[in-house]
Amino acid sequence: MSVIQDTLQTVMKKALALAPDSWIPGGNPDPLIRHQHGLIGAPISRIDGPQKVRGAATFATEFVLDNMVYAALAFSTIARGRIATLETDAAEKAPGVVLVMTYRNAPKMKPAPVFMSAPKAAGGDDLPVMQDDSIHWNGHPIAVVLAETQEQADHAVSLIRATYEELPGTTSLAAAKAKGVKPGNFGGQPLQTVIGDAEAALAAAPHKVDAVYTTPRHNHNAIELHGATLMWQGDDLIVHDASQLVAHEAFTLAQVFGLDEKQVHVTSPYVGGGFGAKGLWDHQILAAAAARLAQRPVRIMLSREGVYRVVGGRTLTEQRVAIGAQADGRFDALIHTGTVVSGEHNNMPEPFILATRGAYAAANMHLDVEVATMDMLANTFMRAPGEAVGTFGLECAVDELADRLGIDPVELRIRNEPEKDPTTGLLFSSRNIVEAYRAGAERFGWSKRAAQPGQQRDGEWLVGMGCATGTYPYYRMPGGAARIVLAKDGHVTVSIAAHEMGMGTATAQSQVIAERLGLTMDQVTFAYGDSDLPGVVLAGGSQQTASIGASVTAAHRALVAELLKLAGNDSPLAGLKPDEVGGLNAGLCKLDEPDLYESYASILARAQRDAVTVEAEAPPPLELMHWSMHSHSALFCEVRVNAVTGETRVSRFLGSFDCGRILNAKTAASQFRGGIIMGIGLALTEETLFDERTGRIMNPSLAEYHVPVHLDVPEIDILWTDIPDPHAPMGARGVGEIGITGVGAAVANAIYNATGKRIRDLPITLDKLMG
Ligand code: MOS
Repeated sequence: MSVIQDTLQTVMKKALALAPDSWIPGGNPDPLIRHQHGLIGAPISRIDGPQKVRGAATFATEFVLDNMVYAALAFSTIARGRIATLETDAAEKAPGVVLVMTYRNAPKMKPAPVFMSAPKAAGGDDLPVMQDDSIHWNGHPIAVVLAETQEQADHAVSLIRATYEELPGTTSLAAAKAKGVKPGNFGGQPLQTVIGDAEAALAAAPHKVDAVYTTPRHNHNAIELHGATLMWQGDDLIVHDASQLVAHEAFTLAQVFGLDEKQVHVTSPYVGGGFGAKGLWDHQILAAAAARLAQRPVRIMLSREGVYRVVGGRTLTEQRVAIGAQADGRFDALIHTGTVVSGEHNNMPEPFILATRGAYAAANMHLDVEVATMDMLANTFMRAPGEAVGTFGLECAVDELADRLGIDPVELRIRNEPEKDPTTGLLFSSRNIVEAYRAGAERFGWSKRAAQPGQQRDGEWLVGMGCATGTYPYYRMPGGAARIVLAKDGHVTVSIAAHEMGMGTATAQSQVIAERLGLTMDQVTFAYGDSDLPGVVLAGGSQQTASIGASVTAAHRALVAELLKLAGNDSPLAGLKPDEVGGLNAGLCKLDEPDLYESYASILARAQRDAVTVEAEAPPPLELMHWSMHSHSALFCEVRVNAVTGETRVSRFLGSFDCGRILNAKTAASQFRGGIIMGIGLALTEETLFDERTGRIMNPSLAEYHVPVHLDVPEIDILWTDIPDPHAPMGARGVGEIGITGVGAAVANAIYNATGKRIRDLPITLDKLMG
């Protein structure tokens, strides 16, 4: 056992000793879970799988409403100015057209209120929607057509003609920076960290790297296009949407239309991929406004191009990373600063320093994100906002330093493992990166890597290996709540305004609920995806699992208390307190004396009840104040780079994860693999081409924006530590966004090891390797 491992064990022991102070209900160990059926962690296939395979799952734009019309949008072709003329006659007269809505006839709507750092419910801006003739980005919607069929709407929208009074806009990075930058702020937190004097420490360090890394704009390309089917019932608005945040959306739509929150009902039973972008954007607001004018239900499904025009993506980044180190590899200075871009009315500064804050022990740090504004569509969250691109700079720089020092890059990282959070000073709740590295390196065959780059050749292919670390913070947002209905036959329905985007939420949570209540999977229904259900739960920040878990734990406690009351004095459970009992065999038992037992059915029958209903709120996320909590990964990549064409193929990839307890081995592995696949795209192909002269996105299609396809993705090996986090509900930290984090660097570092070429500009396309 290395010194570092020893130290980590000591830290863990200290953490466990302190645990009772901040132990939260449902943490690990959770005495109320008896693990009777062995469901927690089991690789259970997704319970929504059969419906999806049969085509029986109704997605947002598959709802059919009586008398429904179809929408299409027209987009501006300038970035800034005013609409001078807008000809809609031909569109209005086109076959099947029911309505053409422009700023001239759109109903009065208020701007969306700010939510977190980004207005319009996790994305977008605070601009009024279609209230005047002003244009704020190239692609700004200028008209909505409603028609009897989608084809008629698409045709009619092509007949709309606009001219503009163009104003000088800012559409290039250089011009945006020349206007001056402002300090970045993410969710109310400044994105600046200064500890000691990093520049002085860097200057004094005997070994150093100091380089600039750049990443391009990215756009979301969920298979399911953004869309909604919606209708008004009197003054009530019903929206079937594809959403990561139904409750936030209902609230925001109510504000926009001047309604009470209860008058808006948002459902989202299935989401065909979100990646951070399935929030409220202009298209739902425009469709709702048009539906009100036309007094018809509306289905709006954006075209692929439409998604690029009205749904924001990830900003470009320019990052300086500098590390100063001693000969033994220990970091004295860590500098990670740079610039991102944002729209004028949007605040989503890709927080690329977040992972750096807790990554390495360095006595001196300077971290800073600055924002340059331009006339462009609002940015939004994209899987691991900040970490996905920030770790490209950081983890490439660590690799460059390892190369200069002649220290193995895995070893260099381990030597700089912090004992506590380097910026907050908090102890880690659970951090097992070293274990993840050791296990991953062994399985991957890391010892076969040639330390000198360009040494391994197989015909015309250069072969190399690289590694990188990923970290993603554990979050649990306040506002979680759940309702449990226990029927007299013992069936339980747990309801919560949560979301299933295909990641397995409903399956994994059903497993935990069944185990918690002593039931089988088929005795549990998990109801979600509806703003009328309890709780304000966001499927974002990889925090939904913890949020639901804490809510269900609270509701379960309420249920147990209620059942003990109903059980009364004639029950074997008479006189027991809620903390003394747990679920077993569709009933309750005394935890340390399971023979004291009564089934749910028996308790309800004696009490002459058809059902018991309880609802409770999750406790506030106090664990975040006591502990530095993160998911972690150690990533290993092997690439083959063609010496003749420069083509890179990722030939092997291994992700070794440390995310606390894994609740479902199959869906978690799938999350990790999906993240890694997205990371391979980030490394090698994904790039939004933004015309800096006009501010227009020039490749708004899957033909020209390249995401990985099957042939681009090798076998991906996944392993995990499965060490439960003592301070997270169910012992589980997030598994959603950690998957992509660090992958770009692992690929770039492998390419360096194969070729000796250090490419610091993503994506690493073959032209960059041919020079
Ligand atoms: Mo994630 S980008 O917070 O949906």
